[in-house]
Amino acid sequence: MKNLGIYVHIPFCRQKCNYCDFYSVNWNDESEDKYIEAVINEIKGYRDKLKGKYKADTIFFGGGTPTIIKPENLSRIKEGLSDILEIEKQSEISMEANPNTLTWEKLKGYKEIGINRLSIGIQSLNDEILKKIGRIHNSLEALEAIDRAKNIGFENINADIMFNIPGQTVKDIEDTLYKIIERGVKHISFYSLKLEKGTPMYAMEKNNKIIMPDEEYERDMYYAGREVMAKNSLFQYEISNFAEAGFECRHNLKYWNQEEYIGLGPSAHSFLNNTRYSNPSDLKLYCECGNSRNFERIILEELGKDDLMFEYIMLRLRLTEGLNVKDFNNIFSADFKKIYSMQINYLIKNNLLEVEGDNIRLTEKGMDISNYVIEEFME
Ligand SMILES: C[S@@+](CC[C@H](N)C(=O)[O-])C[C@H]1O[C@@H](n2cnc3c(N)ncnc32)[C@H](O)[C@@H]1O
Ligand code: SF4
Repeated sequence: MKNLGIYVHIPFCRQKCNYCDFYSVNWNDESEDKYIEAVINEIKGYRDKLKGKYKADTIFFGGGTPTIIKPENLSRIKEGLSDILEIEKQSEISMEANPNTLTWEKLKGYKEIGINRLSIGIQSLNDEILKKIGRIHNSLEALEAIDRAKNIGFENINADIMFNIPGQTVKDIEDTLYKIIERGVKHISFYSLKLEKGTPMYAMEKNNKIIMPDEEYERDMYYAGREVMAKNSLFQYEISNFAEAGFECRHNLKYWNQEEYIGLGPSAHSFLNNTRYSNPSDLKLYCECGNSRNFERIILEELGKDDLMFEYIMLRLRLTEGLNVKDFNNIFSADFKKIYSMQINYLIKNNLLEVEGDNIRLTEKGMDISNYVIEEFME
């Protein structure tokens, strides 16, 4: 049986943050119930495709804000899944969390239904910055949420931290990271703020209400953050992700290893049988259809061998361990060094790629301009 990752998109937030364009709408009790029914129906629609062929080894409740949902409703989704496929005993079951929604009761409930990894959106521990970006919690509430989760027995905790925020300083970043690490988080996703079209911050920048840090300072913040994490044994394993050994996110590793997963819920993406597709970003449509077979999935790409090879390179180079040439040759029955000899030589000469044994990976300089390096393999 093949392994499968399951992503469940929970499309609700208490309030939209000023920078975020993930698909979510305002929550209420009634829409939670309708949404849960729709997800359970969508799962049933996968029965023939998955039963007896796949077993789930990672489940990721992402969002939106999954911690808005009652534990018993998440448990219903889990039960729906176990009706159509085996869920491995040692599965990693993650959920994203907003500190504002992490009450003691909810945390206890999530633990009881088998959630074993929390990814908490902390973003910053500077209250002014939190206000500016529209967060609904302050720094104290964020730290208390981590403490509560730890006291209830969550060992595997990630904190999302953002840098490159207007007004933020290198010192802010360092302070935030030190305090978070001191609290015992084992994993940090360290994201550079990207202004997304349609968000309030995007408009503010266009109207000169905020000024983004320049490129050099953006890198300074990144390097400073990386140094704090390295000093504290949080090792970088992907461009934006750092973890204590053994605490890397198994679900996200599936994305970078080009492994199969299905995405449930509005806007969720899937990769199955070499095809990438997504559900519509529309909760009403998603719920109205009631049965997954009635809504049109959007086929994004059916990948042929060349597409798969390019995508594999693009994804694997995001990882600090890089791409293993033997693995590549086995997976694609191809000769990596022969196909890409020109690109490899050029990139090594320019100190953008390096080789260690059978692995080819980005150098530090290469990581800074990873998009450019990856484009070289497109030709
Ligand atoms: C879907 S959110 C999940 C966490 C939870 N909803 C919360 O915010 O507390 C995932 C993470 O993506 C990051 N993120 C969202 N929009 C971003 C942007 N425009 N630029 C950089 N990072 C962003 C934030 O760090 C956020 O915590
Ligand atoms: S960052 Fe999290 S809480 Fe904020 S709008 Fe996005 S999904 Fe919702």
